[in-house]
Amino acid sequence: MSQTLRLNKYLAQLGIASRRKADELIAQGRVSINGKTVKALGMQVDPLSDEVTLDDVPVGKPGKKKHYYALYKPQNVVTTLSDPEKRPCIGDLVKLMDTHVFPIGRLDFDAEGLLLLTNDGEASNKLMHPRYHVDKTYRVKVKGHPSKETVDKLKRGIKLEDGFVKPSSVKVEKMLKENAWIQMTIAEGKNHLVKRIWLRLKHPVIRLIRTDFGPIRIKDMKPGDMRKLSKVEIEAIQKVGKPSAKKTPRSPKS
Ligand code: URA
Repeated sequence: MSQTLRLNKYLAQLGIASRRKADELIAQGRVSINGKTVKALGMQVDPLSDEVTLDDVPVGKPGKKKHYYALYKPQNVVTTLSDPEKRPCIGDLVKLMDTHVFPIGRLDFDAEGLLLLTNDGEASNKLMHPRYHVDKTYRVKVKGHPSKETVDKLKRGIKLEDGFVKPSSVKVEKMLKENAWIQMTIAEGKNHLVKRIWLRLKHPVIRLIRTDFGPIRIKDMKPGDMRKLSKVEIEAIQKVGKPSAKKTPRSPKS
C-alpha cells in the first residue's frame, strides 16, 4: 500500500530544499504534481504514483539509486536549476545528465569552486545543517595586505550583524603587489559570509574559490568540470555527523 506525505517534506527528503524553502518554491508556483502547478501549502503526494516536477523537471523518488557529483562552479553562474533572469545556471549542466540531482547549498553568482550535487536528501540535509558544523574551505583573494593583527582578530572570531563567526583556520597564503590570497576554513553557512567578513575587516573580496566541502576536496578540477564522487568520498559524506567521520586525503595540487 502506498503512503502519502506532505509535499514540502517530500522535497526535503529528496534534498531539494529545507521544508521552509520548499514551501517558498511551492508558493512561487515552481512545483507541479502530475502536470498541475500547486501553490497551496500542505498538499499531500504519493511518492510512488505522483509525478512531481520542479521548474518542469521531474524530481527523483526516494529509494532510487543515489548519485553524488562534484562540480567546479565557474564564476558568473547561478547556483539554481533555472534562472528567471536567464543567466547561466547550474541547471544547464545538470539537465545534460540522465539523473536529477540538486546542489547542496549555494555559492554566490561571482564565487566559484566546489559545489556538491546529489539526489540523497538525507546526506544533503546533514551537510547543510548547522548542528554538524561541516567545514568549508575557501581560497580568498582580498584587496590590500591584511596585517597580522587583522588575521589574529579574525582567528579569535568576529561579530557580524547576524551573529558571531569564528573560522576554524585562517592563513595568509601569498601577498601579491596590491592584494593577498588567504585560505580560510569555516563551518557556518550564512549568506555572503566570507565576503561580509572581509568587508568588515576592510579588505573586500576580489575572488572567492571554494576548495573543500566537508570531506570532499576540489582536487585538480577546472571551472565547468563535473566528476562523480568516488566510493571513498561517498562513504565519507555518509559518515558526516558520526564519530569516525574524517576528511578524504588531499591531492598534492589541492
Ligand atoms: N561566502 C561568500 O561570501 N560567498 C559564497 O558564495 C560562499 C561563502
